Amino acid sequence: MEKRSRTFAILSILISLISLTKTSAQQNCSSYKFNTNNIFATCISLPVLNSFLHWNYHSSNHTVDIAYRHTGVTASDWVAWALNPTGSGMSGAQCLVGFRNSTGNFHVYTSPVAGYSTQLAEGTLSFGVPKSSGEFINNNTEMIIFATLQLPAGRTSFNQVWQSGPVSGNTPQQHSGGDNLKSSGNVDFATGEVSGDGGAAGSQQRKRNVHGVLNVVSWGILMPLGAVIARYLKVFKSATPAWFYLHVACQTSAYIVGVSGLGTGLKLGHDSGLSQDTHKAIGIAMVCLATVQVFALLLRPKPDHKYRFYWNIYHYAVGYAVIILSIVNIFKGFDILNPEKKWKHAYIGIIIGIGAMAAFLEAFTWFIVLRRKKEGGGSTNKYPYNSDGVNGANGYGARIQQAV
Ligand SMILES: *[C@@H]1O[C@H](CO)[C@@H](O)[C@H](O)[C@H]1NC(C)=O
Ligand SMILES: *[C@@H]1O[C@H](CO)[C@@H](O)[C@H](O)[C@H]1NC(C)=O
Ligand SMILES: *[C@@H]1O[C@H](CO)[C@@H](O)[C@H](O)[C@H]1NC(C)=O
Ligand SMILES: *[C@@H]1O[C@H](CO)[C@@H](O)[C@H](O)[C@H]1NC(C)=O
Repeated sequence: MEKRSRTFAILSILISLISLTKTSAQQNCSSYKFNTNNIFATCISLPVLNSFLHWNYHSSNHTVDIAYRHTGVTASDWVAWALNPTGSGMSGAQCLVGFRNSTGNFHVYTSPVAGYSTQLAEGTLSFGVPKSSGEFINNNTEMIIFATLQLPAGRTSFNQVWQSGPVSGNTPQQHSGGDNLKSSGNVDFATGEVSGDGGAAGSQQRKRNVHGVLNVVSWGILMPLGAVIARYLKVFKSATPAWFYLHVACQTSAYIVGVSGLGTGLKLGHDSGLSQDTHKAIGIAMVCLATVQVFALLLRPKPDHKYRFYWNIYHYAVGYAVIILSIVNIFKGFDILNPEKKWKHAYIGIIIGIGAMAAFLEAFTWFIVLRRKKEGGGSTNKYPYNSDGVNGANGYGARIQQAV
């Protein structure tokens, strides 16, 4: 009883603390006094980038008067707030932009964004903006954009994006990553409902998931599995030449999916404007090495050729290098995309599974080979895996040769 009431007390303190922080954030937003004496009925603290959106919605003429406030900026920053009526994220965003221009005035203008390499040039938006103005206040730390928007007909709910970045030579420059990639969501001017992760984040998140799944399945699962098949199945005479075709099928499909995985990655990096240099470099190296493997397959000497031994060493070395790079890069990718922990755990489980299977098969094949040696006797076979180079030229036995 005692214990339960204590738990209850702690819980209620926690709950009141949470509601306190919540109301103080809301108060901050709605208690804000504009120098211009504008009063706005609704106001939200946007989840990132020290930004606030205040507005009055007029259902009679389907217009909204907004004030977008962005605090913690400097005189060499630009700020922007946009609705995206046709899509999500930056592409298609109808922006209101503000920055201190070369004449020292805070300049507010409209800029429609078509693609990702924009310099926010002035232009007309897809909906009417009868009024816009701005203020740069609070000892040059806070920018405010005021505007009246003639909302597109038939809806009050839109994807919104807000942003800031540096200005150079009177032109806005690219923004950075981190929170600047999370500054989008949904706003409904009639109901006041907002969500931080709608729209823009949704579509971008889908692309990230596709990239992750393609690469984990190809480089992270199929490739190591194909290597296990080659290494362990070929010991069994009855599995020749099936192991070879299985191996080629596994690695080729992994390669094709893996190359499209690289494509999605390059596109993601380009669209987000972020350079994940190491992850990208490792990814490109993986594709180059795997391409060399595919072409080397066509150039491989016959199993009894004297150079086959060297070809095999090369083939193993490059193959294992690709697999190690793949696994390293997949973990780098997990750190970048930061998905729910369960996905990383699932992948770790799969890798441990493949590793355990390999360890078991390793032991099992040694057992088989040693037994064969004992039964057969007199063999010069010192190693369970002939390197496809039969004929004893390299001292490895001809017993486990394959026909390919
Ligand atoms: C909230 O208001 C207090 C002062 O009332 C101010 O110090 C603080 O910076 C404000 N927080 C935000 C996020 O604007
Ligand atoms: C829209 O209607 C409101 C009143 O409902 C009015 O105050 C406002 O000026 C109108 N806006 C435009 C752009 O006509
Ligand atoms: C600077 O901003 C002011 C105020 O918006 C505008 O009148 C002026 O044309 C702008 N000058 C330049 C060079 O952009
Ligand atoms: C305004 O900013 C300048 C430079 O950041 C600082 O030195 C000054 O103390 C600030 N003034 C006020 C009133 O905060």
